Amino acid sequence: MKVLLSHDTLQARVVEMGRQIAQDYAGREPHLICVLKGACSFMTDLARAIELPLTLDYMAVSSYGSATRSSGEVRLVKDLDQGLDGRDVIVVEDIVDTGLTLNYLLNVLRQRGPRTLRVAALLSKPSRRLVQIPVDYVGFTIDDHFVVGYGLDYNEKYRNLRDIVVYGP
Ligand code: IMP
Ligand code: MG
Repeated sequence: MKVLLSHDTLQARVVEMGRQIAQDYAGREPHLICVLKGACSFMTDLARAIELPLTLDYMAVSSYGSATRSSGEVRLVKDLDQGLDGRDVIVVEDIVDTGLTLNYLLNVLRQRGPRTLRVAALLSKPSRRLVQIPVDYVGFTIDDHFVVGYGLDYNEKYRNLRDIVVYGP
């Protein structure tokens, strides 16, 4: 499998994103929401790169059975522990592909009264977008490859790879 983004490349970019977020949220206390499970590696590195007091929460949605293509169907599998009223919320996603998952999530979260609601995604595949959604912080824009590693899976495997690689022979 071909390395698309090496561990060092990922780390350097995540640190940059953390600095940018710390600048943008100076004097505030962002509330990061990790979309399980793919965003876990990114979330832990990103949170440590944001030099501000912050809080974390986790939610899980399922849009993929075990295939590599979006079904368009999104299900809330695990809800947040904490409310969002008046908070500066940043949704942390591994990858925005069709945008269907994030579109659904943002609609759900917006109804909970956050003061601000932004998105940080490690990867974006704009060529596959079906719904246009604002992604405020993007780590890397990539072509239409199916990728695994650094949290991203194929059939629940490869999440532990240090690099992001293109899935395939
Ligand atoms: P969307 O709803 O099509 O934007 O899909 C978003 C979700 O699909 C992501 O959060 C991932 O869990 C999964 N996904 C999309 N593309 C890939 C990929 O290339 N590798 C692994 N998972 C992916
Ligand atoms: Mg995901």
